[in-house]
Amino acid sequence: MVIKTAEYLISSPDWEQCPTPVWPEYAFIGRSNVGKSSLINILANNERLAKTSGTPGKTQLINHFAINNAWYLVDLPGYGFAKRSLSQRRQWEQMIENYLRKRTNLVSVFVLIDSRHEPQKIDLEFVNQLGGWNIPFSLVFTKADKSTQAIVSKNVKTFLNKMRETWQFLPPNFVTSTVKKTGRDAILNYIDEMNAQ
Ligand code: GTP
Ligand code: MG
Repeated sequence: MVIKTAEYLISSPDWEQCPTPVWPEYAFIGRSNVGKSSLINILANNERLAKTSGTPGKTQLINHFAINNAWYLVDLPGYGFAKRSLSQRRQWEQMIENYLRKRTNLVSVFVLIDSRHEPQKIDLEFVNQLGGWNIPFSLVFTKADKSTQAIVSKNVKTFLNKMRETWQFLPPNFVTSTVKKTGRDAILNYIDEMNAQ
């Protein structure tokens, strides 16, 4: 897929203030600092589209981007940010649950997981929750340039095996590096296929 236009639209504090749900929508979620905003920028071919940061907790709102005047990319705030208070975490959970369950044009969610680590409880709990809500999702193993291919493959395999304990069908998975632009074409092709359905 060729990206002709990528435009920032709005940052919303809740699902009701998001843009009119006229186009198919794809949301990116995962632990704080896992690389959601960076991946969106690589996909959109614009390094300054979504704000990135070396410090976790950068993205706080629901950020909509219009791609090719045909579909939405959404950058969501991450989970597992240690410096958040309990009430902030509850607020995040409520905002995310409402967005994920009520956004009618949401086609699929990309759950980002740091490929350097063995399966983390917080990520497994989140994907199990998504599955429980019947929300289609795929897995994106990020920062592949930061470890060896053998470690990445092992972590992907272990994560899928963990999911197999609960789920009969496993989601599609991608391995990405924003440094090497790995995984960009595969994800864009996948979105293209879903847009065509
Ligand atoms: P929050 O908005 O805080 O939840 O974080 P985020 O998930 O949007 O992460 P962000 O894209 O801001 O990236 C966090 C840090 O990881 C930045 O310093 C990025 O440069 C770095 N990063 C993201 N993806 C990659 C990657 O594939 N490889 C490497 N080496 N660094 C990456
Ligand atoms: Mg971010």
